Amino acid sequence: MNRKQLIEKYIEFFKSKDHAEIKNSSLIPENDPTVLFTTAGMHPLVPFLSGESHPQGKRLVDVQRCIRTGDIDEVGDTVHHTLFEMLGNWSLGDYFKKETIQFSFEFLTKVLEIPTERLAVTVFKGDSDAPKDEESSQIWQELGIPKERIAFLGKKDNWWGPAGNTGPCGPDTEIFYWKPNDTLTPEKFDTSNDDWVEIWNDVFMQYNKDKDGKYNEAKQKNIDTGMGVERTIAILNNFEDNYQTDIWQPLIKQIEKLSDKYYKGNEREMRIIADHIKAATFIIADGAVPSNTEQGYVLRRLIRRAIRFAKDLGIPQDADVTTPLVKEILEIYDDYDILQNNKQKIIDELNKEEDKFEKTLEKGLRIFNKHSDQNIDGKTSFLLFQSYGFPIEMTIELAKEKGIEVDEEGFKKEFEQHQKLSQTASAGKFKSGLADNSEQTTKLHTACHLLNQALREVLNDKEIFQKGSNITPERLRFDFNFDRKLTDEEKKAIEDLVNKKIQENIPVELEELSIDEAKQKGAQGIFDSKYGDKVKVYSIGNFSKEICAGPHIKNTSELGTFKIKKEQSSGSGVRRIKAVLE
Ligand code: ALA
Repeated sequence: MNRKQLIEKYIEFFKSKDHAEIKNSSLIPENDPTVLFTTAGMHPLVPFLSGESHPQGKRLVDVQRCIRTGDIDEVGDTVHHTLFEMLGNWSLGDYFKKETIQFSFEFLTKVLEIPTERLAVTVFKGDSDAPKDEESSQIWQELGIPKERIAFLGKKDNWWGPAGNTGPCGPDTEIFYWKPNDTLTPEKFDTSNDDWVEIWNDVFMQYNKDKDGKYNEAKQKNIDTGMGVERTIAILNNFEDNYQTDIWQPLIKQIEKLSDKYYKGNEREMRIIADHIKAATFIIADGAVPSNTEQGYVLRRLIRRAIRFAKDLGIPQDADVTTPLVKEILEIYDDYDILQNNKQKIIDELNKEEDKFEKTLEKGLRIFNKHSDQNIDGKTSFLLFQSYGFPIEMTIELAKEKGIEVDEEGFKKEFEQHQKLSQTASAGKFKSGLADNSEQTTKLHTACHLLNQALREVLNDKEIFQKGSNITPERLRFDFNFDRKLTDEEKKAIEDLVNKKIQENIPVELEELSIDEAKQKGAQGIFDSKYGDKVKVYSIGNFSKEICAGPHIKNTSELGTFKIKKEQSSGSGVRRIKAVLE
């Protein structure tokens, strides 16, 4: 079975269980400034797991591209990837433990025809936050998983989420597969044996972690599951190494050609190059470019680490490493429009970064080697960073390989000093969205809609639009297009108009409309639906109408008093307002 067949079978199976297929989302989260990348299928669904109703219903299924960067420097083994695809099914306050475990078991044993004998599971052993999960264990046993193949583990292993700092989370049950083809499945499940590979995770999202780190019982009990496509494809084809599958082989073949070497199974460098360029390709397609901040920095690290290992592997410096790999990636993933539509941009960005780094890599390595008879001090690691483009993580990795250390504190000091000197402290890329789903953040979100309209009316300019927003429980930040500073009178008039609307006790109403209907009714927002046909439109009386995923409060009277704290420039032609509710 290949990748596409697995995805199709999964989606079809859950459709047959009344799930609606949802479109997958960008790797760069739109509504969560606390994390850089979408790390799981549930991530774009956080508002709905927190109680918002989803336009497509209570049972959902999809395949979602994900990035996990926690351990970039660990990538290189046969089962972990920076970019992977996650199959997932969700219940938003609908079915719970019994059904989800039954669905998982049925899909694995009936559709994929995996013998029950090769499966084992873990369940939550309980702690002060949540009780021992006897129920799941019982359900598994009824399905035919013997007691010896059920392990009870703690939070570290059997708890999932939240994806960012706060939000939905809960205990889970994980499903493992016995990989070796040449040995019988051991009777007892030894969770420390790596031959048991995790393929699926069913999370019981019953809790909400708040910003004080407390787990509060959620209003709605949800199911969130995740199955790794790469691993599942590998086991279904009896490969112990994911890189032997159709998702990776074309890349490995290209790297073999470039390096004039064979992949015999131990070539970690080849796996790293394939993994990193694939991840970089998707990240660029989703809108990031190499830089020294946030997503751009991760991207830079991935590309440069790949180029460094290409050199280690003996690929000649003048060879174009990235373009032939991108071509293969686009062929493997020809079902992703986002890749096909950004082909030239992906190739250009990768080539630019590759060329830039190749110019300095060799010289930088010489400097590194000259200093590597002892630990690398702050000055040298900063020189490597600043003049030779070595991400600090790369210098640390090179040092580890030599058995020496890097003075990271010293690096930090040099870095900060340099930033101060050149006054280039980067303001960081603009992040939009809500920091969490707390009541205060929700109120400020509704206030943003009032502000958006008030700006247009007071400044008498219908062409004013939101250019971004960022909302924390403390304040809202709202960017809009306008080419001069606001006067004190204008600011006062805007505040007054927002406060007038608050005092009018206007209900905030939600409609689910087709894009055409939304347009017709004059709703503002981005007319590019992510969730199929219907979009959510929030109206505040006749005053404001916006396409928006929510959440919002029910009535403007809940808001208190709106106050503008700051109005400033945020780039050319864009102004920024910071405001609070008192
Ligand atoms: N969100 C869960 C995971 O990523 C399913 O494992």
